[in-house]
Amino acid sequence: MNVHFLNGPNLNLLGQREPEIYGKATLADIEKLVREHATRCGASIEFKQSNSEGDLVSWIQQAKGVADVIVINAAAYTHTSVALRDAISATGVPAIEIHLSNIHAREEFRHHSFIAAVCRGQICGFGVNSYILALDAAVSVKGGNKVV
Ligand code: DQA
Repeated sequence: MNVHFLNGPNLNLLGQREPEIYGKATLADIEKLVREHATRCGASIEFKQSNSEGDLVSWIQQAKGVADVIVINAAAYTHTSVALRDAISATGVPAIEIHLSNIHAREEFRHHSFIAAVCRGQICGFGVNSYILALDAAVSVKGGNKVV
């Protein structure tokens, strides 16, 4: 299975950006951990970051027919972007929303996600582990979310 991890604005600054909220790991550290877990899961991944909303929209569109699942940390665009929501719903590729921090325990403007309703689910608040949990969730989504 193939999973596309898409990362939004300012996540390129992880490691130096508000480490008390986002932790000390860089995005490259996170990618390495996700790649190691993907090997254990037998999954292949793409891992990308952009500060531009348009890039993220294009990557969501391009995932159609290529990715089984999109995992997206849309960062600040989570709280502003109808375009990302429309791209997810237009392409129909199952998407999982993730965040390092617990957006519901932070400022009120972070409580609303424009993409949540078009994603299969949301994982937030587990730091780097949100990415690992999302890969497990992606495997489950691909398998039809069977309850055993
Ligand atoms: C974030 C949470 C967002 O509210 C914020 O704008 C980010 C990072 C997270 O991973 O916790 O940039 O998506």
